[in-house]
Amino acid sequence: MVAIVAVAENWGIGKDGQLLFSIHQDMRRFRTLTSYMTVIMGRKTLESLPGGKPLPKRRNIVLSSRMEPTEGVEIAHNIEEILSLLADDPAEEIYVMGGGQVYAALLPHCEKVLLTKVYASPEADAFFPDLDADPAWKIESESELLEEDGLKFQFIDYVRA
Ligand SMILES: NC(=O)c1ccc[n+]([C@@H]2O[C@H](COP(=O)([O-])OP(=O)(O)OC[C@H]3O[C@@H](n4cnc5c(N)ncnc54)[C@H](OP(=O)(O)O)[C@@H]3O)[C@@H](O)[C@H]2O)c1
Repeated sequence: MVAIVAVAENWGIGKDGQLLFSIHQDMRRFRTLTSYMTVIMGRKTLESLPGGKPLPKRRNIVLSSRMEPTEGVEIAHNIEEILSLLADDPAEEIYVMGGGQVYAALLPHCEKVLLTKVYASPEADAFFPDLDADPAWKIESESELLEEDGLKFQFIDYVRA
């Protein structure tokens, strides 16, 4: 399992149910990597997607204690149910795509984190765990510093130390 996330300098990832940033290059990379794969998200992240609809061309698994399955959405009521839904998943990769609660719950099952570090510090109410403060994780590779609309960012891959 691989977590994919865009974080601010303070590890913030969202505010009021929405993303902190809209970086086209980052969105494109997300779409390229996750298309035809399986994505796992929390109920609140599903609700934040356009029309509250699942992502096309991907198997969408949503973690919720109370939601019913809808078209294109499989529901897991807890972590164990996710693992059993994934047992016979033929996808090449399983991506954990947020939000804060789901990253925290599934990080122990992830072998890699594909992180977009955005060099800005907007106010946030959802966060990703600080991997730099966790000796279990180390940086495997980082891109050059990129920029879009005056916002500097970098792709950083973390693996288990
Ligand atoms: N920057 C990024 O890369 C990124 C990516 C995705 C999302 N986000 C942002 O993150 C924020 C949302 O994060 P969030 O933490 O508030 O919500 P979330 O993780 O998307 O969803 C939380 C919901 O997931 C369900 N859930 C979580 N853990 C569970 C468990 N162990 N068992 C059963 N159900 C579980 C619960 O649904 P029920 O209440 O239905 O039981 C819970 O209310 C938004 O601002 C969004 O824009 C950012």
